[in-house]
Amino acid sequence: MRFFLFLPFLLLRAQTSLAIVPFYPWLSSLWHYEDLLYLSPYFNTAKTNRTVNGSVIAAEWVRVAYHDMANANVGAGTGGIDMSIAFELDRPENPGQGLKDALNDFRTIYSPNVNMADSIAMGVVFALASSGGPLIPFRGGRIQVNSAGPLGVPQPQESLESHIEAFRRQGFSTTEMIQLVACGHSLGGVRNPDFVNMVPEDGVHKFFDSSQATFDNNVITEYLDSTTQNPLAVTQNATFRSDLRIFNSDGNKTMQAYVLPLFLYLRSDFSSLANPDAFASTCATVMEKMINTVPSGVKLTEPVEPAQFTVARMFLTAQAANQTQISVTTRWLNPSSNNKVTIFWSDKLHPSNCSREICSATAKTMSDQPVEPVSFAPSMLAIINPHRFHKFVFSISSTVVPDKFWFEVEDSAVKSGLFIGDNGGQGFTRADNLDVFLDTVRTTEATTDSSLKFVVAVRKSNRPSKISIEYVDISADAAPDFNPNIGTKDFSLDSSIAPTFEYEFWTAPVPVLFSTYTLSVVRDGKSIILDENQILADRVNIL
Ligand code: HEM
Ligand SMILES: *[C@@H]1O[C@H](CO)[C@@H](O)[C@H](O)[C@H]1NC(C)=O
Ligand SMILES: *[C@@H]1O[C@H](CO)[C@@H](O)[C@H](O)[C@H]1NC(C)=O
Ligand SMILES: *[C@@H]1O[C@H](CO)[C@@H](O)[C@H](O)[C@H]1NC(C)=O
Ligand SMILES: *[C@@H]1O[C@H](CO)[C@@H](O)[C@H](O)[C@H]1NC(C)=O
Ligand SMILES: *[C@@H]1O[C@H](CO)[C@@H](O)[C@H](O)[C@H]1NC(C)=O
Ligand SMILES: *[C@@H]1O[C@H](CO)[C@@H](O)[C@H](O)[C@H]1NC(C)=O
Repeated sequence: MRFFLFLPFLLLRAQTSLAIVPFYPWLSSLWHYEDLLYLSPYFNTAKTNRTVNGSVIAAEWVRVAYHDMANANVGAGTGGIDMSIAFELDRPENPGQGLKDALNDFRTIYSPNVNMADSIAMGVVFALASSGGPLIPFRGGRIQVNSAGPLGVPQPQESLESHIEAFRRQGFSTTEMIQLVACGHSLGGVRNPDFVNMVPEDGVHKFFDSSQATFDNNVITEYLDSTTQNPLAVTQNATFRSDLRIFNSDGNKTMQAYVLPLFLYLRSDFSSLANPDAFASTCATVMEKMINTVPSGVKLTEPVEPAQFTVARMFLTAQAANQTQISVTTRWLNPSSNNKVTIFWSDKLHPSNCSREICSATAKTMSDQPVEPVSFAPSMLAIINPHRFHKFVFSISSTVVPDKFWFEVEDSAVKSGLFIGDNGGQGFTRADNLDVFLDTVRTTEATTDSSLKFVVAVRKSNRPSKISIEYVDISADAAPDFNPNIGTKDFSLDSSIAPTFEYEFWTAPVPVLFSTYTLSVVRDGKSIILDENQILADRVNIL
C-alpha cells in the first residue's frame, strides 16, 4: 500500500495559492537536493537486487542507515546519521558485505551538495518509496564525520533490557523500538556469512518475511499468525531471537491486529502495525525520526518537496555559423492541458535590440509524465506527481551577451494567467557571459568508453590566463573509507579542434569514473566559478 505523506499539501498549494511554493533558487543546495531526490536515477538503484547473490539493495540501504545512527547518544547530543559507520565496519556489531556495498553505492552517487551522511538518509527515502512503502520527507544538511563513534549497535544475542536501553539512548521509546525494528525488518533478512549461528548453510539468505523486497507488514502478520520464518523470531537457539523478545515486549500490543476508526490511526500509540495503512504511516514516522537523528549542533533544512517550477542546468555549444546553441529544460507540476512555456533573455550590450519577439524561444519538445530520466526508468517524481518537461533548444548569435534568462508559464491553474519563472527575481544567469563555457556537444563527441575529454569554448577576444576543472573521482582506488576524492586538471589550447570565428577550444582529460565537476576560470588575477558541482549530462532525456 502506497501512502504519500505530503502529496495533499502540494495539491492544496497548487490550487489555492498564487505564490508558487516551494521555490528553490537555481543551483542552490536545496535545488540540488530537489534534483537528486525527485529526478535522479538512484531511485531506480534502490529497486534492484545485487548482481552477486541477489541481495535486496533497498534492505541494505535501510540497514546501513540504522547502523550509522545506532551509536547516537541523543541525551549528550552526539552521533546520529553522520557517516561514522564507514570507520566502524571492522566491529563485530557491524558484520556483512551489505553495509560495505551500500556505502559503495552512495560513494558513486556522491556530489559535493549531498554528502555521504545526507546520502545515507536519502537512501532510506529511496528504499522505502521504491519498494512500495511510504514516502518520507527528506531534510538535508547533515554533517559528515571522518572518524568512528562509540560502540552501540544492538546485537541479537543481547538481552531485551539492553535493547530497550540502546533505543532509549538513540531517542526511541519502547513502543518506537518495536515499531522501528518491525519496520526495518520488513525488508531483507539474515545472511549466512554474517550470522552462522542463525544461518549455517553456505551462502544462504534467510528472509524476515515472505516479501523481502516489498516494504509491507508481512513481517508482522506472519509473526502474529505464527507462520513466520524470521530467523530473529524462530531460530533454534533462543538467545538469538531478539525480534521475538522485542515484538513480545508489550504483550504484542503494538503488533496486534485490531480495527480502529480512521482518526485513531493518527495516534501512533493506538495504531496497529497489522493494519497496512497504519503500518505505512507509523513506519514513516519512526524512519523519519531515525534519519533525522543528528548531533545537537546540526541544523537540518526544511523538508525538500518537488518544486512547482524548476529549471535544469543549461547546456551550451559553440556552433560554426557564429551561433551559440543553448539547451535547457523546465519542469512544471500538475500541468493543465493548455500548459505552455516560453524562454526570454536580455542582451547586455544591445538591450534595445532585444525585443520580446526577437529574444525568446518556445519549447522544442514537450512531454507529459511519466518522463524517463537517462536511466530509462521512472524517477521518484514520476510515481508521485504529474508533471511536464519542456525542453528548449535554440541558437543565439555568438555576439549577443545574454546576461539573464527567464520563463513565462501559461497554465489555467495559474489564477493570474501567467507565471513568471525568474529565479526569485534574479533571473537565470551565467557567470562570465559565455566568454568561457563547457561545450557539451564537443565534450560528448570527444568522449569514449575509456577516456573523457572535457572541451571548453573560449572567446578569443577575452582569453583567461587559466581554466581548470575540479572533479569528484569515484574510482575504487581513489576512495579509502568510501570517500570520493577531488581531482584537479588544467585546460590547455587544443589545436586539434577547429576554432570558430569567435571561439577556440581548450581541453583537459578527466578519468571516466567521476560524478560531478566544478569549472573555474582565472582572468586578471581573479578567479570565477562557472559551473559548480555539475553533472555532464542532463538527467532528463526527452529529446
Ligand atoms: C535490536 C535491534 C536489532 C537487531 C538485533 C537487528 C539484527 C539484525 C540482524 C542480525 C540482521 C541480519 C544482518 C545480516 O545478516 O547481514 C539484520 C538485518 C537487517 N536489519 Fe536489523 N536489527 C535490529 C534493528 C534494526 C532496525 C531498527 C532497522 C531499521 C530501521 C533494521 C534494519 C535491518 C534490515 C533492513 C536488515 C536486512 C539487511 C539485508 O537483508 O541486507 N534492523 N538485523
Ligand atoms: C529482487 O529479488 C526479489 C526476491 O528477493 C524479487 O521478488 C524481486 O522481483 C527482485 N527484483 C528485481 C528488480 O529483480
Ligand atoms: C555470495 O554467496 C557465496 C556463497 O554462495 C559466498 O561465498 C559469498 O561470500 C557471497 N558474496 C557476497 C558478496 O555476499
Ligand atoms: C546459544 O548461543 C549462545 C551465544 O552464542 C551460546 O552461548 C549458547 O551455548 C547457545 N545455546 C545452545 C543451546 O546452543
Ligand atoms: C505474541 O505473539 C507471538 C507470536 O504469535 C506468541 O508466540 C506470543 O505468545 C504472543 N505473546 C502474548 C503475550 O500473547
Ligand atoms: C562569422 O562572423 C564573421 C564576422 O562578422 C564573418 O566574417 C564570418 O563570415 C561569419 N562566419 C559565418 C560562418 O557566418
Ligand atoms: C540592432 O539591430 C539592427 C537591425 O537588426 C542592426 O542593424 C543593428 O546593428 C543592431 N544594433 C546593434 C548594436 O547590434
